[in-house]
Amino acid sequence: MTVRNGNSHATGSATNGSSNGHAKEAFVEGSVAISPNTPELVPSLVDQVALSGYAFISADPTARTDLLDAARQLVYALETPREAMIRFCWSQSTTYACLETAVDLGLFTILSKDDKPKKASEMAQAAGADSKLVSRILKHLCAVGVILETGPNEYRRTGLSISLTSQRYSDAYPCMTACITKGILAVPAQLKKTGYQNPANGTDCAFQLGFDTPLHFFDFLKEHPEAASQFNNHMSAYRQGRPSWMDRGFYDVPALINTKLGEGDALLVDMGGSVGHDLSEFRRKWPDAPGRLVLQDLPEVLEQAKTMSLHPSIEIMEHDFFTEQPVKGARAYYMHSVLHDWTDADCKKILENIVPAMKRGHSRILINENVIPDMNAYWETTSLDIIMMADFASTERTAGDWHALVESAGLKIIKIWTAQRGVESLIECELA
Ligand SMILES: C[S@@+](CC[C@H](N)C(=O)[O-])C[C@H]1O[C@@H](n2cnc3c(N)ncnc32)[C@H](O)[C@@H]1O
Repeated sequence: MTVRNGNSHATGSATNGSSNGHAKEAFVEGSVAISPNTPELVPSLVDQVALSGYAFISADPTARTDLLDAARQLVYALETPREAMIRFCWSQSTTYACLETAVDLGLFTILSKDDKPKKASEMAQAAGADSKLVSRILKHLCAVGVILETGPNEYRRTGLSISLTSQRYSDAYPCMTACITKGILAVPAQLKKTGYQNPANGTDCAFQLGFDTPLHFFDFLKEHPEAASQFNNHMSAYRQGRPSWMDRGFYDVPALINTKLGEGDALLVDMGGSVGHDLSEFRRKWPDAPGRLVLQDLPEVLEQAKTMSLHPSIEIMEHDFFTEQPVKGARAYYMHSVLHDWTDADCKKILENIVPAMKRGHSRILINENVIPDMNAYWETTSLDIIMMADFASTERTAGDWHALVESAGLKIIKIWTAQRGVESLIECELA
């Protein structure tokens, strides 16, 4: 007989072999670990899936993410702890290994060049790899939903496999291995070593332990140009398909651009702007906006930006944001996913370096970052928070954190503009 959440399967065989704690361990072994995680939530989640599902089918534009959320919550509720353990411990790392290998072998490009199903052996030959090996990798990628199976050892492309033919998307996989994931995996050891203090030193955090380096993340990238280029591509891709502050109905862009600008005045200075994807998007969405658009970053990054065929109105300028901002009196100094890379002390320096350039009553600082809500934080945001902790000793911030940080640099927040859960807000600031 199976008794859910009961202990009728108690075996008394405590895995730690100690005489105390038997009751708890026997209880877990008896039934909890092999019963659904939160079965009481299943009926309402099934209703939510159905409701959002119908809305999705009738083309409600917001329904897709609601449906995805409800479906995900339903999986978590239905899954047993044993199944969750296997998902976390086996599936995530092995899927990652197969994705990265498949990217490296060009398997997605081979599979996705047309809609015709392809045999594993044919793909292996085209990739110059062992047929048995490729067939094992493809079988796993199919089992976890990356590609579709059309017959024994025969597969078909999906939207995901097609997107992985673009380097902008596929670079995420080698990038994480080259400069991110080892830091995350070192978090438990680093936190134990430091007595479980919240990390606050970007040159002595899990990143340095995991990658066995004394360097800060961005200095490490300077020494690993391939990883740096992959990182920049990942930066340009990860926010695609989500509301952007440049879209109508998010931030008041017309109020920003309908301003008096003199000859040579800057409209937007994108600090740490990477390869210029945000300024390109701005130019595309607001083609008639007046004033200079200035892309600032480190020299190595700007070398890559120069290969990107940026719009001629985008001016490229080397600038280290730990030094004083050279573009004076711009309408807006913009930073996207920049301050979350740095500790509060470093962010204060970055902000203070903009202050002397700002013209009172005219200049703004626009910070495009996550604002962690008190409840119901989105998993992408919390993932990023742990990545920041691991690799930068920094953090995603709450509204209170943002107010404290901005005010510490002699500025004030005018308004936090937010579109939807899990999407970076626009924090609009001016001189205090
Ligand atoms: C997380 S990326 C964000 C890039 C871009 N704003 C975006 O949202 O895609 C941070 C950027 O800050 C740049 N950066 C790091 N240190 C810098 C410094 N001292 N001065 C200027 N830029 C820097 C990096 O090269 C990188 O392009």
